[in-house]
Amino acid sequence: MRQSSLVVVANRLPIDDSVAPDGACEWRRSPGGLVSALHPLLRQTPATWVGWAGGTGPAPVLPDVDGVHMRTVPLSADDLRDHYEGFANATLWPLYHDAVEQPEYHRRWWEAYQRVNQRFAEATAEVADPGAVVWVQDYHLQLVPGLLRELRPDLRIGFFLHVPFPPPELFMQLPRRAELLRGMLGADLIGFQRAQAAHNFAQLATKVLGLPATDRRIGVQDRVVRIGAYPVSIDTAEMAALAARPDVTARARRLRHDLGDPERVILSLDRMDYTKGIEQRLKAYSELLASGDVKVRDTVLVQVAMPSRERVGQYQILRDRIEREVGRINGEFGRVGEPAIHYLSQPFDRAELAALYRVADVMAVTPLRDGMNLVAKEYVAARVDDTGALLLSEFAGAAAELDRAYLVNPHDLDGLKQGLLSALRAGPADAGDRMRAMRDHLHRHDIRAWARSYLSALDDTGSLLTRLSSSG
Ligand code: G6P
Repeated sequence: MRQSSLVVVANRLPIDDSVAPDGACEWRRSPGGLVSALHPLLRQTPATWVGWAGGTGPAPVLPDVDGVHMRTVPLSADDLRDHYEGFANATLWPLYHDAVEQPEYHRRWWEAYQRVNQRFAEATAEVADPGAVVWVQDYHLQLVPGLLRELRPDLRIGFFLHVPFPPPELFMQLPRRAELLRGMLGADLIGFQRAQAAHNFAQLATKVLGLPATDRRIGVQDRVVRIGAYPVSIDTAEMAALAARPDVTARARRLRHDLGDPERVILSLDRMDYTKGIEQRLKAYSELLASGDVKVRDTVLVQVAMPSRERVGQYQILRDRIEREVGRINGEFGRVGEPAIHYLSQPFDRAELAALYRVADVMAVTPLRDGMNLVAKEYVAARVDDTGALLLSEFAGAAAELDRAYLVNPHDLDGLKQGLLSALRAGPADAGDRMRAMRDHLHRHDIRAWARSYLSALDDTGSLLTRLSSSG
């Protein structure tokens, strides 16, 4: 059994699950996903990634990808339904996103969550070197730090939550709230996207478990667990280089032409998810078309909604509603050869995404709640000529850093419309100032800076960090 000094544990492996396990693997680069975030780091550091390969049944044996060893964890059909689709995505996901959809609580789902977390912990225990650094990711695996500490007390365990951590009033709904908190507290360091999340967690540790806690430290028996905000980022330089590539620039020109060479292109690019505020955005847009503030003749909206979690009931209902609304708006406001909304529900490769970012005069990212939103950051990184305007929800984690965006409350339709019009009408000098400031920020706070700050806090021996910096 091959062992590593750095082990990343995440629900998904970073490979495209449509690729057969015959050696022809590629990194799965779903925009906004955590794979995009960790990819550059792991390419540089000998590591193992423990995760699910997609699908059900026995775990396939996969070849290394870019030198990273893949340790697959199998899910049965029951695990898929009750762990991934159930407890992770129909209990925790809505609960952690302000309960914008009703979280569902089923005891069978909790059993599956425990069982699958145990399986991940055991696989990790097998592949971790003595004293290795283990970095557990996201809400699917909140029990892993605690389970792993029981199996391997020698490990340095980090946990990072990519999604929001809710305020106590919401978290208290959860039937197994104490166990979940205890699971996370198995880590040495718990990272969140925003300071507010760490504050919520500390309050809950005291309220539910009676532990002494500040927003930085929690006392657990004879240990101190550190907590804090480590906002995740992107590979800014890589996105800028991709966006500047001649073929991507040519593709962007071609896309603009295919869209009818409009004066203004608005782009929205989301996973099809009820947290993303797609319906509110469509409503605002259709009101702007109805009032004549925006005209189909000179402005087009490209809405990309990538299919996601398609077997979960709430996602199916959402997709139907959105597609009906897009049809209604196009029926009412489109003209022959000139739809009001260009709607695409399909995955895109990175170069095509970069071309879309280049073509978008305005990028509308207006989630109702979002841990970070890496699409907003990617757009800024791709605007290599400092043009374009970002319309951004206050409720995306990214808003704390990208404060030169046009910030809106997506629940406030009039505010949303006003924000969109301001972004559409931004003068070049003002837009340039804003974009430059945000691009500078992202060049300083990129994915490597994120990994460095998190890992230096987790690994006080500093050995991993030395390796990271020596490899650039
Ligand atoms: C969010 C989560 C990730 C997840 C991604 C895609 O970004 O924080 O953990 O991988 O959505 O969702 P999926 O259900 O397809 O993994």
